[in-house]
Amino acid sequence: MLPKIPFTLVCLLLVGQLSFAQQKAKDNVVIEKKIDALMAKMTIEEKIGQLNQYTGDRLATGPVTANSTKFQDIKMGRVGSMLNVRGAADTRMVQEIALQSRLKIPLIFGLDVIHGYRTHFPIPLAEAASWDLDAIELSAHIAATEAAASGLHWTFAPMVDISRDPRWGRVMEGAGEDPYLGSLIARARVHGFQGNGLGNTDAIMACVKHFAAYGAAIAGRDYNTVDMSEHMLWETYLPPFKAAADAGAATFMNSFNELNGIPATGSSYLQRDILKGKWGFTGFVVSDWGSVREMVAHGFARNNYEAAKYAITAGSDMDMEGHAYIDNLKKLVNDKKVDIALIDDAVRRVLRKKFELGLFDDPFRFSDAARETKVLSDPKNKIAARTVAEKSIVLLKNQNQVLPLSKTTKSIAVIGPLAKSGDDMKGGWAVPWENDHLVSLYEGLMNKVGNSVKLTYAQGCSITDSSKAGFAEAVETARNADVIVVAIGESAYMAGEAKSRANLNVPGVQEELIKALKATGKPMIVMMMAGRPLIFNYTAQNADAILYTWWLGTEAGNAMANVLFGDYNPSAKLPITFPRAEGQIPIFYNAKNTGRPVKDLNDIVYKSAYIDMPNSPAYAFGYGLSYTTFTLTDLKINQPKMTKDGKLQVTCMLKNTGNYAGAQVVQLYLHDLVASVTRPVKELKDFQKVFLQAGESKEVTFVIDKEKLSFYDSKLNWITEPGEFKLMIGDASDHIVLESSFELID
Ligand code: GLC
Repeated sequence: MLPKIPFTLVCLLLVGQLSFAQQKAKDNVVIEKKIDALMAKMTIEEKIGQLNQYTGDRLATGPVTANSTKFQDIKMGRVGSMLNVRGAADTRMVQEIALQSRLKIPLIFGLDVIHGYRTHFPIPLAEAASWDLDAIELSAHIAATEAAASGLHWTFAPMVDISRDPRWGRVMEGAGEDPYLGSLIARARVHGFQGNGLGNTDAIMACVKHFAAYGAAIAGRDYNTVDMSEHMLWETYLPPFKAAADAGAATFMNSFNELNGIPATGSSYLQRDILKGKWGFTGFVVSDWGSVREMVAHGFARNNYEAAKYAITAGSDMDMEGHAYIDNLKKLVNDKKVDIALIDDAVRRVLRKKFELGLFDDPFRFSDAARETKVLSDPKNKIAARTVAEKSIVLLKNQNQVLPLSKTTKSIAVIGPLAKSGDDMKGGWAVPWENDHLVSLYEGLMNKVGNSVKLTYAQGCSITDSSKAGFAEAVETARNADVIVVAIGESAYMAGEAKSRANLNVPGVQEELIKALKATGKPMIVMMMAGRPLIFNYTAQNADAILYTWWLGTEAGNAMANVLFGDYNPSAKLPITFPRAEGQIPIFYNAKNTGRPVKDLNDIVYKSAYIDMPNSPAYAFGYGLSYTTFTLTDLKINQPKMTKDGKLQVTCMLKNTGNYAGAQVVQLYLHDLVASVTRPVKELKDFQKVFLQAGESKEVTFVIDKEKLSFYDSKLNWITEPGEFKLMIGDASDHIVLESSFELID
């Protein structure tokens, strides 16, 4: 029963909500009037200038077009935004140039603040493994607070691309393979970046990218063709974008890829029909670096003149570093190829955000050097980064409970090419800083044990080359220690944009190093550091314990040390499937049953199977261990049938049956057994991350409503159909503990 709320309190709350909404509506009217007044004064050149974005030269994040007139253009009002200019001083300096223009329209400064600004947080895929939406939102909020103190108004994040292909290096930047988890994380990140609303000096505009379906590039090769059914697009790839739009994201970024023959930047279907039409998006769309002019390479436009026409017509409002709009839009209007109304709409959208940011009232409000110094040195941010990092570490194996390390451990051999690397802990898309310091695994262990444990070190080999010259020293070091902690994986420059890999093995001779260390017979704990799922079958078989630590940011080593010694009990779960071999890709948990499913591993004749490998992955979506154990029991459903306007309550008991306090992610999956469009054998529809003391139990409750039973039919209508649903609750997509079923009766 819900607690009774006094009537007066309800009225006060409602009045509060109304007045907030009324005030917001009033502010919007005021802003629209200001935009009208400003646009009435603007020449067509000045309007086009607002749709033109250039990069700063110090931090280019793509192929730069030589441009010696950049600052003159800014002064002439021919630039609306700059990316890759950061810092209170630099942004103030460039803004002062912009305010010399005739109408003094301030610039928007944007940067890829993907996982932290001054304080590096774990890469987004690692944070997704935490399944902790509060932690993910906090991470984005701290990034926004730091960036907004450093002259920035706009981040090109969250990246919400679903991907089922770890060959694609950009899986590092996203939230993995699942639309449901990805949608919740997209929303959390938008809220984190935009906080209590634009105009606050701890909030920056989010930019939801890359719209759309960039993560489905054929063969996992970056920028490659994307071709899929509209059904797949709507069911799998669009949901996180919709969630981000519904969360109030200020901007979107389109994508480099073509989708079904149309480059996203030139797609009216994506940008006008769906985003601005069906979803009612009132922000603006920025192209991805040069994607307007890249439509020539795509073979979609003959030249930049045509590319600019297609892009502005399709709803791509701002041209990032493409020089296509600034060079062609005026002529397109004069040639009557583009209606000025299209340009006016785009300009209005850009100016709306500038007013909402408060930049016309105070163009320098984000460029305050004193606040920058204070905020960027806030020690609380590193503590938060360490906490988020701890929550992102996935325990894949812990044979004979070799972890957590005993406090009586006398000596640890810390080995491997990533053991002392602080720089690689940044991961891809980290904001570069002079004299940056990130805590390596070795340093984190030093911080933890001081002189109480003897730490020895050997690199053993490099990340990529084939030399085994360091093996002997590594083996000798291992022989002289109680336990081996070995750090292997990818360098931070091996995942991210334009970092597709056809071979997902651990690079170089690192797994041969594991083999050599295995021969010592010492307990071996492997810290696997990477921006994507790797294939490491030998290590999986032969290590005593494996922690997947991704790239964890500024506090990486301290977080890893806390997990190794049990001061944080790992609670993360994989947000993406780990294949046994590249040949299984694309591999994902929410697959269809097919007409010939494999029921018995020994019976694969004429079944949907490989003759040389099981269909199952190395590690499944939702998988992750703990130092403690949990049971799930007493599944109850409050009724066997539900109507589509009804709700079903599901409860079960979670118990911590081990010796350590810890958190479990209880996952609820559904299977719509028969439908007019075949449904996946399981779909994540809810989860709860529950922390329990050793021996503690808690009832976990889920509510099933129509939304969780709906799907797109063959005509893309979002519907429900009566029928039986299988309900599954587990601690991994391949470890279902409780099952039941219910019927939707109308
Ligand atoms: C890059 C990326 C995009 C990034 C942009 C600006 O090419 O595709 O994610 O935000 O350019 O750096």
